[in-house]
Formats: sequence, structure tokens, C-alpha cells
Amino acid sequence: MKLAIGNDHAAAEMKIEIQQYLEEKGIDVVDFGCAPKEKCDYPVIGEAVGKAVAARQVDGGILMCGTGIGISLAANKIAGVRAAVCSEPTSARLSRQHNNANIIAFGARIVGIETAKEIVDAWLNAQFEGGRHQRRIDLIHQIEERQKHE
Ligand code: RB5
Repeated sequence: MKLAIGNDHAAAEMKIEIQQYLEEKGIDVVDFGCAPKEKCDYPVIGEAVGKAVAARQVDGGILMCGTGIGISLAANKIAGVRAAVCSEPTSARLSRQHNNANIIAFGARIVGIETAKEIVDAWLNAQFEGGRHQRRIDLIHQIEERQKHE
């Protein structure tokens, strides 16, 4: 499995810990984020990870900023991205089971590292349930298609 990871300056330390956590599980990680002491703008990072995920260069993405909100908003501008910002593992699990979220996001100023790892695990270990949920995802895709022609 290969995942993209991305963060702004608010989440650089957390990104390092999460990247290490993933690599210990044997997951390849492509880092689009900024390093500690660098400053960067979350929309730039969210777009880059969103494009890598939408192009299927990776199997999914993990995004972090102060709240997880700004960086997920940016990623969700890319067609095909379903980025879910979560502050606890139940939402993370459901974001995969029901929404087939291909990016999970969280905030380094909102959750601690242990909760962040639980969120990552819940998202990674869950399976999309398909069925009625696929129909709703198809409806989201249709919004993207309609927007292209408006
Ligand atoms: C950066 O200070 C902060 O605004 C950003 O990390 C994020 O929380 C935005 O949603």
C-alpha cells in the first residue's frame, strides 16, 4: 500500500510521527507536506495530495493542519476526492464504510497523537460497504460532472 501524506506548519511534528507509524506497518508514504520550522499554506498541500489521490498515484491520503478543516476543504476541490475531517475513530471508520473517503484529515491542534493514530487505524482497517452507499457516492460524482458543464 502507498499513501500520500500532507501537512502545513501547524502539523509538521504530527506528520513525522504519523509517517513513521505508517512506515512501521510497511506502508509506503509519499510526503507532500512541509518540514518543521517551514511555513506553508494548507491549500497548496491539500491540492497536491488531492491530485495524487484522484490520479490514483497512491491508494489514499492523510492530511493534517491545525484543525484538519482548511486542508480537507482544499483537497475536496479536486474531482474524485472524498476527504473526511475526523476528530475520533468512529467517524473515521464510517467515512470509509459509508463515504468511501479516499483521504482522512485531522487537526494537530485538535487531537493528540494517540487519537490521531486511532483515527488512521480506523480508516485504514475499514472496508467500503458499497450497495446504497455506492449510489450516494455516484450522486456526488454527478455533482462534479454537472459543475464541469455549468
Ligand atoms: C494555520 O495557522 C491554520 O490556520 C491551519 O493549519 C488550519 O487550521 C486551517 O484550517
